[in-house]
Amino acid sequence: MIIAVDGPAASGKGTLAKALAAQYGLRHLDTGALYRAVARDVMAASGDLDDPAAIAETARHLDPETIDDPGLRKPGVGEAASIVAKHAPVREALLAFQRDFARRPPGAVLDGRDIGTVVCPDADIKLFVTASAEARAERRHRELAAADASIDYDSVLAEIRRRDARDSERAAAPLKPAADAHLLDTTNLDIEAAFKAAIELIEAAKSP
Ligand code: CDP
Repeated sequence: MIIAVDGPAASGKGTLAKALAAQYGLRHLDTGALYRAVARDVMAASGDLDDPAAIAETARHLDPETIDDPGLRKPGVGEAASIVAKHAPVREALLAFQRDFARRPPGAVLDGRDIGTVVCPDADIKLFVTASAEARAERRHRELAAADASIDYDSVLAEIRRRDARDSERAAAPLKPAADAHLLDTTNLDIEAAFKAAIELIEAAKSP
């Protein structure tokens, strides 16, 4: 079984995807971590985040063993990731890895922006997780403030809005729900309630 979980920044799709993978005994891939890791490697080499050919080369040499790096969650890396992710050659360089991961038995849950539309258009179930920008900024602010109390809510909200715009307006695999995706709005749902709602959607789709 392949489950695609897409949605905007800090919508809760990562936490949900991990919980669904555990529930159904599937492997889990956070595809945002691939773009974050490419951005990290480009910045470490003092490269240009807007040079598609050079970044695609970095993406082709990405070591997937390094995508668990906690440094990838630092503020700023998400924004840099959304800049490198605009470029079609970079996306192309990461495609085979994601598809191979999804296909390997017993299947997987992948979370990202274009899983249901581009990476796994034949996924068994597609979820598109949303929440208001303010609710997402609150969650992300809480997460980041645990490590650095000086981070303010307004700058987190501004980054989320910038990233939403960049991810939705780009030409290459823009953020949008697949035509057959189930929408899950988590603005007023905590993690447990979102998980329960997702399970209901999946179970209903499995036994039509
Ligand atoms: O965790 P959060 O939702 O903040 O971001 P992420 O999922 O780690 O993704 C970071 C950035 O990578 C996004 O803003 C997208 O620009 C890009 N991305 C993408 O283009 N396609 C994906 N499948 C996953 C992430």
